[in-house]
Amino acid sequence: MPTKFLRSFVLCAFAACFIATSISAQSSKQASDFHGAPVRSGLATPAIEKKVDALLRQMTLEEKIGQLVQYSVGSPTGPGTGRGGYAEMAATGQVGSLYNLESVKDANQFQHDAVEKSRLHIPLLFGLDVIHGYRTTFPVPLGLASTWNPQIVEAASRVAAQEASAAGVRWTFSPMVDIARDLRWGRIVEGAGEDPFLGSAMARAYVRGYQGKRLDAPDSIAACAKHYVGYGAAEAGRDYNTTEISEHNLREVYLPPFYAALDEGGASVMSAFNSLNSVPASANPFTLTEVLRNEWKFPGIVDSDWTSIAELIPHGIANDGKTAAWKAFTAGVDMDMEANLYHEHMLDLVKSGKVTQAQLDEAVRRILRVKFALGLFDKPYTDESRENHGALPAESLQLARTAAEQSFVLLKNDFLASRRVLPLASDVPTVALIGPLADDAGSMLGAWAGRGNPQDVVTLKTALTQKLGAEHIKYAQGGEILAASDAQIEESVAAARASDVAILALGEFTQEMTGEAGSRAHPTLPGRQEELLEKVTATGKPVVLLLFTGRPLVLPWAFAHVPAVLELWSPGVQAGPAIVRTLFGEATPSGRLTVTWPRAVGQIPIYYNALNTGRPAGNRDLTHPPKDAAEKYVSRYVDELNAPQFPFGYGLSYTDFSYGAPEISAKKLSAKTLNAELRKNSADAKPVLTVTANVSNTGKTAADEVVQLYVRLQGTSVEEPVRKLKGFQRVALAPGETKKVTFPLGADSFALWDIRNEYTVEPSLLHIWVSPDSSRGEAVELEITD
Ligand code: NOJ
Repeated sequence: MPTKFLRSFVLCAFAACFIATSISAQSSKQASDFHGAPVRSGLATPAIEKKVDALLRQMTLEEKIGQLVQYSVGSPTGPGTGRGGYAEMAATGQVGSLYNLESVKDANQFQHDAVEKSRLHIPLLFGLDVIHGYRTTFPVPLGLASTWNPQIVEAASRVAAQEASAAGVRWTFSPMVDIARDLRWGRIVEGAGEDPFLGSAMARAYVRGYQGKRLDAPDSIAACAKHYVGYGAAEAGRDYNTTEISEHNLREVYLPPFYAALDEGGASVMSAFNSLNSVPASANPFTLTEVLRNEWKFPGIVDSDWTSIAELIPHGIANDGKTAAWKAFTAGVDMDMEANLYHEHMLDLVKSGKVTQAQLDEAVRRILRVKFALGLFDKPYTDESRENHGALPAESLQLARTAAEQSFVLLKNDFLASRRVLPLASDVPTVALIGPLADDAGSMLGAWAGRGNPQDVVTLKTALTQKLGAEHIKYAQGGEILAASDAQIEESVAAARASDVAILALGEFTQEMTGEAGSRAHPTLPGRQEELLEKVTATGKPVVLLLFTGRPLVLPWAFAHVPAVLELWSPGVQAGPAIVRTLFGEATPSGRLTVTWPRAVGQIPIYYNALNTGRPAGNRDLTHPPKDAAEKYVSRYVDELNAPQFPFGYGLSYTDFSYGAPEISAKKLSAKTLNAELRKNSADAKPVLTVTANVSNTGKTAADEVVQLYVRLQGTSVEEPVRKLKGFQRVALAPGETKKVTFPLGADSFALWDIRNEYTVEPSLLHIWVSPDSSRGEAVELEITD
């Protein structure tokens, strides 16, 4: 176990140049790498501790246990307990939290039972999965991450908090900060992708948005970083499956976004379903106690995932419910979501001494802290007039549209004759609009749509009709997502033939194929959609493929034959307007991939920040099959390229950008100095290196570029990835404009978890790239001496 945890600082590595003018200024706390110091939580203030102490002193054993208990009241999103009688439980102090409530009235009613009828008047905490919006549904989290714009994520989360809190919800089970390197896993859509640095920036943004400036403001909600930890590493991409992650990788890759969420003040954590290194994550003392409590000193709640405590039995580490409750609780899970086991067994466990009074008090203290921090004791009820039952406000819709536009990733845009396919000319005479997702409002909301309402959605068909007029559109649904008839395919082909351009809106069946329990072994276009695409493309008309998916799909034919492809994820309520503005050039695509896009399923898991191996294939153009021993005995496939279809960070624009060589403020840095910086408090720490590069818009269209900074360390005690993201900036560039982009880097940009699992800077050779994605750019070299 590591013993040394160094105080580092959080650096404003990408402070300048964020675009979204309507978005508030960025907070001074920025993304940082995980560095193992205690998190900066605002939960355990002296005033709150005093109140908690006073309350704890009055509580009976049963009342304490009640605080640890949580049930879902409404629409289940997992196997239920079959129990009810929650009003009675609230009135007698037997439950601490309820979630999945249907209305603010229900919330107030249950709160009334808890506050007016129970002996100590302790309020309930109401939770819900508010993941990418409450009613104003924004793009799914993978889409939001593709904006590379933490400010817009923060703003979207603020809107979500305002709407959710008006419905009585004061706790969201978000952000999901699981790193995912395997697109077969349906839940890849719920997170920020494969990179810990970007994931940390997004984690912080969500927390800032949800929790606002003050957690006790009536429109703030407590965040919950989930699923702790390693859940995204599910073997073979199958949901709930086993994970095996070394402590080194846990610290380098999977823990940092959790650290970031909690260091930003995040109030809670959800323990995951998966087995981690043969110990279920919901009963894992190393991650839950050693790391979370002893190293990070996290004072907030650890909630279990839905029945994850009961699942210790099928995991095989408990043969009965009592043992499961004991193992989860003593490992560090404070609250039992839905398993009903703390309710049934905790009294016995305490009376028999298997759980001590001190342990119980500590868990109750964490829950009460959050309730006090939320101001629930002073204001337990929600003002029912706050909830908006009318149209969504214009500002929220504007934000949803901007977020969607910034999330779109242009994957391909070929020249046809003398111009690129996109943007389309606004006087295009006839457009064929084809595909099951062109007019499917429900699917635009994506997985975990909160209280998203299809009636609030403007579909592509509606927006396109508004733009061009119905007489310029030939619409053919082309079948359903999962099935189509020959006649529907023929009708689509005929529509394409009779038009000047064909737009195909294709993708996944959100409800079944993305999000929880949505793993896929065949991540391609389901049903007959690929056939539809091929037949429409065969008409020879220009084709624009719009992909509505929760993950990259393996579509080699499409990328070889379709001239223009735009990844749209699930764009939310403003899908149609955002897509139409992008298609016609009123908005320019600026999203970038936050997951590597494979060309073959056999390449999965594939991620950019991989190790080099001892026999790297490098960037060589390898032949298939290999032609000699030098080509054969390297880390490669004999039947496929190593390179992905599209690398992490990739995305095209309607303009072109060029990058100057990066410049650095020093050629040598000393490990000793950097380690001294690493130990400093954030307030005293300074940037240790400034990297600059000129970035130019060489085309004719104003556009945002996402400028990315990567590093590689060599000569270290452990193998380092071939590249690691350490900075990014979204920069607005007018046609012909050049901007000098500056990255001030802190010592943590060069730190790693070394061979003893200590966080440190080592003497090494360093390469730094400032580049448009993870595969390109010119490196500058630098040495870190003793
Ligand atoms: C199970 C999911 O894994 C989790 O993400 C969600 O927050 C809970 N159910 C509550 O609905």
